[in-house]
Amino acid sequence: MQSNAPRHQDGSAGDANYGLVGNRYGQFRKPEPRIAALIADALGDAQTVLNVGAGAGSYEPTDRAVTAVEPSSSMRSQRPASLAPAIDAVAEKLPFPDGAFDASMSTFSVHQWKDLAAGLREMRRVTRGPVVIMTCEPAELNRFWLHDYCPDVIATEAGRYPPPAAIARALGAQSEIRPVPIPLDCADGFNEAYYGRPEMLLDPMARLACSAWSFVDDTTTRRFEDRLRDDLKSGRWDRTHGHLRTQPFFDGSLKLIVGRG
Ligand SMILES: C[S@@+](CC[C@H](N)C(=O)[O-])C[C@H]1O[C@@H](n2cnc3c(N)ncnc32)[C@H](O)[C@@H]1O
Repeated sequence: MQSNAPRHQDGSAGDANYGLVGNRYGQFRKPEPRIAALIADALGDAQTVLNVGAGAGSYEPTDRAVTAVEPSSSMRSQRPASLAPAIDAVAEKLPFPDGAFDASMSTFSVHQWKDLAAGLREMRRVTRGPVVIMTCEPAELNRFWLHDYCPDVIATEAGRYPPPAAIARALGAQSEIRPVPIPLDCADGFNEAYYGRPEMLLDPMARLACSAWSFVDDTTTRRFEDRLRDDLKSGRWDRTHGHLRTQPFFDGSLKLIVGRG
């Protein structure tokens, strides 16, 4: 159990320091409505919802009573005034009684927790109904062309993401894993969201909003930029991957785990 490990200066409790990488997060990581609809469906008719690792509030339902938990002050400060302020706490130690919420959710966060098993146990403990987790399947990260252009960043991601099957098992026997198709014009700028818009990954600010890039050294990043820029200029990227520019959805690594049991 490592949940007593020191937190970063802004309170970040995971492997990424959001005091450094999170300042422009809200600009690039907006909730994608078609993904939000899948999350809303998974939450069912829950009236009270806990959002863990809530960040700037992406995917938080606005038609239910939401309690948000977020350890990084930088992320908490980016929450719009229309959302309730987030509580400074961590998944591994939730300050709520057993069964306090109808449902709970966590998006793009579990891979950062210091003690995944403790965090999932806590979410299960405080939730009467479904525990909805959106995360990536590490074995499917290589579906994305970035795997060829910057294998280090994909390897970093693969090493961070826990397998969804293990999360589903921890959350209960009736849990299911649902695919999350990524739309071509996805409003949420995670890496795979740019499957058909490669130019976006040449923008350092867009990359900064994806924490995996903060673990890759400058030389590797520069090599990636040079190679992608050259291939876009020469038409090589388009000859291999150009069909993605008009492909409406991409079945990448993104999954929704609906924990029940
Ligand atoms: C990539 S952001 C996702 C934010 C938001 N859920 C979203 O979908 O945009 C990951 C968030 O998880 C938070 N986090 C990291 N470790 C955590 C922990 N142990 N408990 C709760 N939240 C944590 C980070 O501070 C960060 O805000």
